Amino acid sequence: MNEELNKQLNRELYSAYLYLGMSAYFDSIGLKGFANWFKVQAKEELEHAMKIYNYILDRGGRITLHPVEAVPTEYPSPRAAVLRGLEAEREQTQNINRLYELAREEGDRATEVFLHWFIEEQVEEEKIFSELLQLVDMAGDKPQALLVIDARLAQRRE
Ligand SMILES: [Fe+2]
Ligand SMILES: [Fe+2]
Repeated sequence: MNEELNKQLNRELYSAYLYLGMSAYFDSIGLKGFANWFKVQAKEELEHAMKIYNYILDRGGRITLHPVEAVPTEYPSPRAAVLRGLEAEREQTQNINRLYELAREEGDRATEVFLHWFIEEQVEEEKIFSELLQLVDMAGDKPQALLVIDARLAQRRE
């Protein structure tokens, strides 16, 4: 369980990195609201990583900091970036579910309960990315529509 939690810690850091890369991409194409939204998202993933980090220590486990894989800072289109984000969240849901199964198999009640928060969080994460993809699809090739979304995303603070 300890090693699997360390791997999840790494995957949360990877998510933070992935969204920071997307933020840089949106910044480079002038969509500052999207850039802001993804920067806030990256910070959230860092918080997820820290939750796991603290939990491992609380349980007297060992922290292993695996290398974080490189991520793109360029995408073919805003849609491609948002779609990748949605896919990443779906993968993350699978990862959390697998961890949960393992905790159950091992009879590790504390980890089971600890993971409840992440299970709920993934529902929210998939939802916000699906909604964003829906908006981007609606905008299509119309720059004005994309700018309306951009203005909305500029509001996100946390
Ligand atoms: Fe996360
Ligand atoms: Fe996430």
